[in-house]
Amino acid sequence: MSAEKLPLILSENEADKQEFARMIHAAVEKILASLDSGAAYKGLTPDKLRSVIRTEELLPEEGLGFDAVLEETSQKILPNFLRPFSTSYMAHLHSSTLLESIVSELILSAFNQSMDSWDQSPVATEIEVEVIRHLCKLYGYGEGSDGVFTSGGSQSNLSGLLLARDHFCNTCLHWDVKKHGLPVSFPKFRLYASEISHFSMEKSTHLMGLGYDCVVKVPVNDAMQMDVSALEKLIEEDLRKGNLPFCIAATVGTTDFGSIDPLDALADLAKKYSLWLHADAAYGSGVILSDKYAYKVRSLSRCDSITVDFHKMFLLPISCSASLIKDGKNFEALTLHADYLNREEDEEEGYINLVGKSMQTTRRFDALKVWFSFRTRGRKGWSQIITSSMENALTLYEKLRTDGNFAVAVKPEISSVVFRVLPPPGAKEDADEMNKRIRKELLHKHGTVIGQTVCRGKVCLKFTLLNPLLTREKLDELLALILSLR
Ligand SMILES: Cc1ncc(COP(=O)(O)O)c(C=O)c1O
Repeated sequence: MSAEKLPLILSENEADKQEFARMIHAAVEKILASLDSGAAYKGLTPDKLRSVIRTEELLPEEGLGFDAVLEETSQKILPNFLRPFSTSYMAHLHSSTLLESIVSELILSAFNQSMDSWDQSPVATEIEVEVIRHLCKLYGYGEGSDGVFTSGGSQSNLSGLLLARDHFCNTCLHWDVKKHGLPVSFPKFRLYASEISHFSMEKSTHLMGLGYDCVVKVPVNDAMQMDVSALEKLIEEDLRKGNLPFCIAATVGTTDFGSIDPLDALADLAKKYSLWLHADAAYGSGVILSDKYAYKVRSLSRCDSITVDFHKMFLLPISCSASLIKDGKNFEALTLHADYLNREEDEEEGYINLVGKSMQTTRRFDALKVWFSFRTRGRKGWSQIITSSMENALTLYEKLRTDGNFAVAVKPEISSVVFRVLPPPGAKEDADEMNKRIRKELLHKHGTVIGQTVCRGKVCLKFTLLNPLLTREKLDELLALILSLR
C-alpha cells in the first residue's frame, strides 16, 4: 500500500483494522522467513554492515509505503540481527524472549499506555500495582513494601541507592536533600560494593552527586563473593577517618560469574552499623522461581531495596525491570506534584499516579509482560525454565573441570560459566591472544557468540546460559568447536 493510502493510526474503522492486521501478518511472515539457520549472527564485520545499511535519505521526499520498507527491512536488517534465541548465543545477560511475551509487547505498544498518571493508564496502573504487590510477596517483603517498574537494572539500582542516600540524610543528618541538595559533608559518604559489582554502582553515585570516590570496592573471596570480614574492616576504617557509611550494595548474581554475595552476613552487618542494604539482583532475581534453588536468594527479604530484572533470567523483552523497596514510604524522595498531571486531591480520592515513585515521567506498561508470562506458564513452568538453565551450567562446569584443555574459574551459582582455553602443548601463541582470537572467529565465521572477560588478570571466555532450548549435546558441540580453533 502506498504511503498516501496507508491509514495513520489504529481506530474503530473496519478498513483500518484490516490493514493493521495485514501489516502485522506481513511482518510476522518476514520474521519467520528470516529464521533460516540456527546461527546467532550472520558474521558481518562492522565495515561490511555499515555498507549494507548506509542510506542516502532517511526521510525521502515521498514516503516509500509500508510494503517497500518492510521489504527493505527484511533485506538489510532482519538477516543481520543478533539472534538471542539461538542456542549458539551465550555472550551476555541478554536473553531470548518467551513467545507470549512478544505478543504482550504488541498489545502494550498497540495501546501505548503511559504509566505516569491514572488517567493515562487506568487498567495498566492497576495491573502494575497488582504485579508489584505479588512481587513484594514473592521476595518475602511484608506490609508497607512497594515497588515500581523501571527501564532496567541500572535504573533500578539508581532508584534503590538514591532512596538509600535520602533516607540516610533524612534520618542521620536531618537534612532534606530533595529540598536543599547535598549537605556539605557529601564527599565523606561511603557505599560498599564488591570489586566485581556492576558499573551501575559508580554510574549511580556519579548521578547522585557523590562521585565514583563514594564507592568502596570490597575484595571478593575465591568464590567471587564479597568478603564480609574485609567489608567490616573497611567500614570501621571509614568510621575512624570520619567518613559516613550509608549503604552496602550486595550483588545477587555478579555479571560475569553469577556469584551471590552472602546476604545474611551482610544483613547482620548492615543492622550492626545502621546501613541500608541494597541488593542488585538484576541477574539472580530469577532464581526465586526455581523450586530447587530458590533457597539461594531467600534472604533478599532482608534487604531494604531489591533490583529485579525481567529482561535477563526471566526471558522477557527489553525493557522490563522493577525496583522493590521494603518500606515503600521511602519512595517519597521521588514524589513531586504537578497541577497538570498528578494532583494530590485526585490521589486522596483513590486515583493512583505511579509517577510519584518513578524517575521517569512517561513510562511503558512493562508490567503487562510479567503479568502475562507468570499467568501463562505458572509456577511449575517457571521453575522448570530457571532450574534447567542453572543445571546446564553445573553440567558444563563439570565437563570443563575434568577436561585438561580448559581451566574453569569458579563453580557456578546461577547459570554463567567462565573458563579459559589452554594452549595445546608446544603452542607459540600467547594464551590471552588465543582466547580472544577464538571468540572473534566464533563470532565472524561460525555464527556463535560467546562472552569474553578477565578473571584474576587473565583473558577468559564466558558462557551465559539463559536459553531454555540449550541441550547438553549442543554444549558438547560447542566445546569441540572451540578446541578445533586452538
Ligand atoms: C549485576 C548487574 N546489575 C545491573 C545490570 C544493569 O542492568 P541493565 O542492563 O538492565 O541496566 C547488569 C547488566 O548486565 C548486571 O549484570
